[in-house]
Amino acid sequence: MKNSYSNIFSFNKKILSKTIKVLNKGGLVSLPTETVYGLAANAYSKTAVAKIFKLKRRPKFNPLIIHYYNVQQILNDVVVNNNFIKLYKKLCPGPITFILKKSKNCKINSLASAKLKTVAIRFPNHAVTRSILKNINYPLAMPSANMSSHVSPVSAQDVYDEFKKKIKIIIDGGQSVIGIESTVVDLTKNPKILRPGIINSSVIEKILKFKIKKKTNTSKIKSPGLLKKHYSPGIPVLINQKKSDEKSAFIYLGSKYKNNHNKFSLSESSNLNEAASNLYKIFRLIKKKGFKKIQIAKIPSRGTGIAINDRIKRAAKVK
Ligand code: TXA
Ligand code: MG
Repeated sequence: MKNSYSNIFSFNKKILSKTIKVLNKGGLVSLPTETVYGLAANAYSKTAVAKIFKLKRRPKFNPLIIHYYNVQQILNDVVVNNNFIKLYKKLCPGPITFILKKSKNCKINSLASAKLKTVAIRFPNHAVTRSILKNINYPLAMPSANMSSHVSPVSAQDVYDEFKKKIKIIIDGGQSVIGIESTVVDLTKNPKILRPGIINSSVIEKILKFKIKKKTNTSKIKSPGLLKKHYSPGIPVLINQKKSDEKSAFIYLGSKYKNNHNKFSLSESSNLNEAASNLYKIFRLIKKKGFKKIQIAKIPSRGTGIAINDRIKRAAKVK
């Protein structure tokens, strides 16, 4: 069935085979995942991967995450280690991305991994994207489906708003349940979280049975895309705000300002997972309503609050 926009499709057998045809020919499609919507292409094809960088205007030094159906598919491309196996068994498919060393015979196109010796891999947990991955014989390079530095999309309509009809197929898989990008954990040496997400360090430590390094802002940039201005709604964002000025939109936790035209609660019950899942949706809504500035109240830095603070800090960066 077609929705009102001709390139947004509900999922069915016909769309499955149409999507696979586009991917086999080296084209781009947008797929739903449990975290955010992705812009997918054949990770083994240089021309396909190049289209992602071009459409997103993504700097070539920022590598993509490669998405697989299951562990069997990765064995030729990366070097697997014990920490990976333990985390994979407990958390996959799910909202976590692993940095591993490339194998000698790795077929991932070097443009996708920004010529690094390592590669980011993920097993997304969404029925639509899993059924596509199951029916192709290559993995999918799939960054979030937004212009570089913009807010990630959490619905098919958000993807349409970013790219209009520049993508042939956008599959509507409903609102992304998690709503922020996957946790990125570097497993090439001592495990280290490079991008916080809903799977936090204590979950990982419990599985590995040892303490892991926290992300630091010093030392050399490990994830090239990580220190730049990012997740930006395109209007100024101020964080740790106490009071709101009437003209700007105010984002907060709780239910203190119910039914107030410029106040937006991330979660009325102050649940941090719910807050994360509403963050980008609310950013986009505020922009659509025409507000010129966003103020955000202090968000507690525990659990998923760490990931929320990471995203809003970078949304607030000037450059
Ligand atoms: O939830 C997600 O991870 C979504 C969905 C679509 O799967 N994808 C996503 O991709 O957020 P993207 O491209 O927007 O973010 C990928 C992040 C970037 O910060 C990039 O620098 C980092 O992963 N990354 C990729 N390869 C890396 C590598 N070899 N070493 C370190 N960081 C890497
Ligand atoms: Mg992104």
